[in-house]
Amino acid sequence: MSSTSHARARLRDRRVYLRSHPLLFGLLAATRGRAVRRLGRTLLVHGPDAYREALTRLPLDRTAAGTTGAAARAALRDGEGVLFDQEGGGHRADRRGLAGTLGAAGVEELRALWQPLLVRRLAPLARGGEVDLVDLARELSGAVVCALLGPGADPRAVAGAAAEAAAASVRSHLPGPRRPRAEAAAARATDRLRLLLGPADEALSAMVAVAAVNTTVAALPRAVAWCADAGLWDQAADAALRPVLADELLRVTAASPLLPRVAAADGAVGGCPVRGGDRLLLVARHAAAAHRRDPDPRRPAGPAVARLVFGAGPHACPGARLARAQLADVLGALAPYRPVVARARVDRGAALPGWRALTVRAGAAGAAA
Ligand code: HEM
Repeated sequence: MSSTSHARARLRDRRVYLRSHPLLFGLLAATRGRAVRRLGRTLLVHGPDAYREALTRLPLDRTAAGTTGAAARAALRDGEGVLFDQEGGGHRADRRGLAGTLGAAGVEELRALWQPLLVRRLAPLARGGEVDLVDLARELSGAVVCALLGPGADPRAVAGAAAEAAAASVRSHLPGPRRPRAEAAAARATDRLRLLLGPADEALSAMVAVAAVNTTVAALPRAVAWCADAGLWDQAADAALRPVLADELLRVTAASPLLPRVAAADGAVGGCPVRGGDRLLLVARHAAAAHRRDPDPRRPAGPAVARLVFGAGPHACPGARLARAQLADVLGALAPYRPVVARARVDRGAALPGWRALTVRAGAAGAAA
């Protein structure tokens, strides 16, 4: 694939960062020349080895303010802890529960659920119509979450509440004075989500729903747009290349681009001394070389680098297998239409950089086929 087509894809994809958090991503781009850079009590961690080291070797304070764990705990108002903020035995027990449903057999069962949904939702493309991939990703992730956690719930309502809970939680944790209204909005959205998902372990279910919906709704449309803009549909149509293409697209779009963490004790990351209480901004996007290496299923970055977008160590994303299989299936279902992007609008209020709407229609080659 020519570098010009990837440049076009990159140009569109950059808009999701520049419209939502221009200053933050400007700062991260300006400092990425070094694996680790200290700014006061904050370390910006860009290099793959340093990023992995921070997640696997350094003791982290998972309940410190400004971290993902603290945001999860505050939104759920749950003293017990829920995955992101847990450690040790309780964490391992909850992970074991998820490993069953999100393992190879579990994902195979879920594919049987989403494949007919994809056929139905993409049918308008055959008639010259348009499909909004954000809307599709919401329904898809809502349906998966309901199948896993809340049978009987309405997938769209679950996806809507999960998105609102994450967005309000991010708003309430912005630097600066406390934002009681945003905190209350986050708690309300999370309560709605817990109600929708029903009586199972509500806090854990709500946590998994938020993690699954927001990443999927950010990742799928961005990956499809890149595929369309760079003209990668031949690779998406090839059953052998497709899973690797999916991994590569997840790598370059790095849906969860920044992991905010806090060190619990003194140590070192990438040769740079760390003190307990130091803030770490772990830049998944740079660790996975998303900014400098185009997606190429014939010469992929390889799992050791590509998987960094899912974190590393004991808290690494348990939904990675599901996310990879789902994107591969979405690409496979779209490939016959050779879609092009008709319209795209950034979601400036979402928890993760992404599109509010990303509409595709069949391209000339797909429409003629
Ligand atoms: C493109 C899609 C996805 C991306 C990029 C992504 C990324 C991540 C990242 C970076 C973490 C933090 C890892 C760490 O701290 O080392 C995480 C954690 C998590 N993810 Fe995902 N994720 C995705 C999809 C999903 C899905 C589909 C599910 C559920 C079905 C899910 C469930 C979770 C959960 C429950 C955690 C917390 C794990 C823990 O703290 O033990 N994720 N994810």
